[in-house]
Amino acid sequence: MAILSMILSNLFWPLPITMYIVETGCILLLVKLLIRLTNGVCSSTNRLDGKVVIITGSSSGIGLEVMRNLAFRGAKIYMAVPDVDNAKVLRDGTSAESGNAQIFVKYIDLTSLKSVRDFVEEFLSVESRLDVLINNAGMAAIKKSLTSDGLETQMACNYFGHFLLTRILLDTMKKSAPSRIISTSSMLHWTCRRINLSDLNFKKSSSGNGIMEIYATSKTCLILFTRELAKRLHGTGVEAYSVHPGAITSTAFLNCFPWYFRTFVWALTMMVSKTGIEIISLTAGG
Ligand SMILES: NC(=O)c1ccc[n+]([C@@H]2O[C@H](COP(=O)([O-])OP(=O)(O)OC[C@H]3O[C@@H](n4cnc5c(N)ncnc54)[C@H](OP(=O)(O)O)[C@@H]3O)[C@@H](O)[C@H]2O)c1
Repeated sequence: MAILSMILSNLFWPLPITMYIVETGCILLLVKLLIRLTNGVCSSTNRLDGKVVIITGSSSGIGLEVMRNLAFRGAKIYMAVPDVDNAKVLRDGTSAESGNAQIFVKYIDLTSLKSVRDFVEEFLSVESRLDVLINNAGMAAIKKSLTSDGLETQMACNYFGHFLLTRILLDTMKKSAPSRIISTSSMLHWTCRRINLSDLNFKKSSSGNGIMEIYATSKTCLILFTRELAKRLHGTGVEAYSVHPGAITSTAFLNCFPWYFRTFVWALTMMVSKTGIEIISLTAGG
């Protein structure tokens, strides 16, 4: 008891700055250790030869790691991305490393409903089956804006685009059953207290908190959609899941902040966030 009281009093007693730095470092190390110890890592080596997979947002962060994992296991992959040139470079590297020549890069802009339809049309012109659809792409933005379809941009990318993509690929997935739809949601959906269905463009939104409110709403919509989809698909052989991947250092959020705060968040997340190998535990299992 005496030792505990000594530690606690030392924690909060005015100390030299170096002691605070050491304390902060120790706390971060403990958090990192906790993440390491409680984190499941996918160790599956199941081959996926013959399985056709679409992954949105597979040119960076989580999507890229998942794409690489599936490539090494032999899946035929369609990288659905807005920056085709960058994705082709990543594709070539992954193909060379894994020996998988069945990785294709196709353009999609999830903020454009036409682009989603064009992507599906092109995909279905060459493929008759789809085993796994990974709705992973996501964005966070400081300011509200509207797409050419008149939808709020974050909502369009994170939810409406994936909703449409899933809906128009559903018949193909039913024909390919057993098949699986995985959507990358976020724990931040907890901050969404209610969805105002008559204001999905956030015109009347009073909080003005563009990043959190719209992002959280878009992820809540994605989760609710997935849950309803899973119910309706019961017995068809198509399964639908949404997953929170954990905290990963990525560009989606960092770009929202001013450079000084971005640097701080980057340094913090580098210390405690998951690594590439840990990321794939949630999305690439089985
Ligand atoms: N990082 C985390 O800690 C965390 C936590 C919870 C949930 N998530 C979710 O996990 C998913 C992946 O995030 P991440 O951390 O890997 O982020 P990231 O590295 O920024 O990747 C986001 C991906 O989405 C793509 N994308 C952005 N706008 C798009 C659009 N309009 N159309 C099509 N694709 C678009 C990006 O392509 P370009 O690079 O070419 O723009 C990129 O490949 C997101 O849905 C995110 O909300 C992340």
